[in-house]
Amino acid sequence: MNADNLIQQSKDNKEEFWKEQAQAISWYTFPKTITSPDENNYNQWFADGELNMCYLSIDKHIEDGFGDQIAIIYDSPVTNQKKTYTFSEAKEEISKLAGGLQSLGLKQGDTAIIYMPMIPQTMFAMLACARIGVIHNVVFGGFAPQELVVRIDDCKPKVLITATAGVEIAKRIPYLPLVEKAIELAQDKVDNIIVYNRNLVENKNEYFEGTIDYQDLISKSQAADCVSVKSTHPLYLLYTSGTTGKPKGIVRDTGGYATALKFSMKYIYGIDPGETFWAASDFGWAVGHSYSVYAPLINRNATVIFEGKPVMTPDAGTFWRVIQDYKVSIMFTAPTAIRAIKKEDPNGELVKKYDLSSLKKQFLAGERCDVATLDWFDQHIGVPAIDHWWQTESGSPMLGLMTGFDDYKIKRASAGKPIPGYDIRIFDENGYELDAHHEGYLAIKLPLPPGALLGVWKDFDRFQNSYLSQFEGYYFSGDGAIVDEDGYVFITGRVDDVINVAGHRLSTSEMEEVVSSHPDVAECAVVGIDDDLKGQIPFASVVIKNGSEISDEQVEKEVIQKVREKIGAVASLKNVMVVKRLPKTRSGKTLRKLIRTILDGKEFQIPSTIDDETIIDELIEKIKIYKK
Ligand code: COA
Ligand code: AMP
Repeated sequence: MNADNLIQQSKDNKEEFWKEQAQAISWYTFPKTITSPDENNYNQWFADGELNMCYLSIDKHIEDGFGDQIAIIYDSPVTNQKKTYTFSEAKEEISKLAGGLQSLGLKQGDTAIIYMPMIPQTMFAMLACARIGVIHNVVFGGFAPQELVVRIDDCKPKVLITATAGVEIAKRIPYLPLVEKAIELAQDKVDNIIVYNRNLVENKNEYFEGTIDYQDLISKSQAADCVSVKSTHPLYLLYTSGTTGKPKGIVRDTGGYATALKFSMKYIYGIDPGETFWAASDFGWAVGHSYSVYAPLINRNATVIFEGKPVMTPDAGTFWRVIQDYKVSIMFTAPTAIRAIKKEDPNGELVKKYDLSSLKKQFLAGERCDVATLDWFDQHIGVPAIDHWWQTESGSPMLGLMTGFDDYKIKRASAGKPIPGYDIRIFDENGYELDAHHEGYLAIKLPLPPGALLGVWKDFDRFQNSYLSQFEGYYFSGDGAIVDEDGYVFITGRVDDVINVAGHRLSTSEMEEVVSSHPDVAECAVVGIDDDLKGQIPFASVVIKNGSEISDEQVEKEVIQKVREKIGAVASLKNVMVVKRLPKTRSGKTLRKLIRTILDGKEFQIPSTIDDETIIDELIEKIKIYKK
């Protein structure tokens, strides 16, 4: 068997292929139905199968005699802590927390928000929910209260699980004031707040009033068993940025997802059970869900939870130290992390201090990887760096290489070839399929394979409008791409209002909503501009209201602060420029792409639809002054 045979099999008989992959995981009831339509006629996988994700991740391995194997490695340079948990130790805490959730009245189908930092308890909370069929929604700790509010009001959680603090390098971030603010602003009231006390910050006593102490709950609770859930039961919701201001609650199923993850560990990542896998991502992102928690655990790999940054915690050698200390065999990070390391350690001096012999491959995703970063990696680390492409929506890679076989070939700057189940096409804007070497919109023929989204939480219309209506019979990814003559795909970037800042997916329209809410702002345009470290960063061009007496500097400062308060520091909006007018089409549409191209200092063409060409010179002049 080689990769080509496997890919061919997946095309020849899709149902048979995925049925066989589903046999690699344990089911309480193995599905008889492999594909079937849901109530909206959208495809679902293994509908009559039953299983439990926490069982697959933890209990199964204990039953198989691996209870004493290390499952979780927690390494926190920011708090000077290191701790490991075996599968049996993890089960002890997870099952008691699950019992505690049940004692609070939570049951299958309820939702829970988890707003926590990179600590094992976050993972325990996710797995405890999965154990009893509660649908979790992890919210990235770098988001501001307003982001929490949107999620509370959309998924109406019965419980919110949080911690007293996160740590950003040397800065301690108290979570409870943020949670309190969110609870105050949300329309829906959350019945239970569970707080894990890290004893890192002083919190006012009133923040704890009416909350439940995590440790206390565990010590009082009976262990709960895994419940059997339908394959289509939502394991989690993960909100992601779309083209409109409000994030979309991506719904992930259980059976299709578990099947896809197990498949990916064997064939895409090529890792055997028992080895150590490290995805250096926050739990709040899709990578964190799939490759810090569920995939490694299902595959019986030890997974590393790293509470730190690639640099400054304490230095740019920290990733290499972790690889050495835990014998990491496969690592996954965003190119921005490697760029940050390269900037601090251009000659790879820190790399030489560590033994990286355990490392077999480095996977990269989240944003386009530039060749200079790959060069640095090749020169100093010397293991294959493999780019692959996926989205929150897919839950696992859609483009990549089948490194489980030895015959894979890397093509630089390409994110690889379609993964089995993903029938990828490139269309022009009228829906005509393009040949090799023509840039167009990346779409995927329906049905999507197991693991991909089931929909948008309680909003089929939004699901349809966001993904299914652009090209009939296809899922539209929002990315542009080119395919070459060998079938390798080159992602050219988002074609919508989504930007990738340091591997974090953010919506410029959401930022525009916040900027426009400033009382002195008449209108604005937020675009993503190139950045050497973060790949892209947002840039806001702002027009001040006529008659407003505020200074440009003051508006710039206040807009930056507003975005930090409403979206979070992670938005990284540091550039705000006041302009007299924005370039627009005759029908009044802001020419954002033109603004972006000018800001990036690239050559641009004046669109024929422009209303007033003189605005371009105004803008160029203003940028010259701004950049000084
Ligand atoms: N809680 C609170 N604040 C957070 C946060 C969190 N979990 N995560 C980030 N922030 C804050 C940071 O403190 C920073 O605030 P500041 O503007 O006050 O300094 C801001 O959000 C931006 O953070 P970040 O994007 O992480 O930038 P950085 O300059 O601190 O670090 C990198 C740059 C490249 C080192 C860092 O972005 C990185 O490690 N990126 C890898 C991303 C990744 O793994 N993505 C996952 C997809 S695979
Ligand atoms: P997220 O949903 O946060 O994982 O972000 C998904 C988006 O990140 C995709 O739509 C792409 O725009 C971008 N992305 C992810 N992986 C890659 C990659 N390997 N190359 C280029 N862009 C990528």
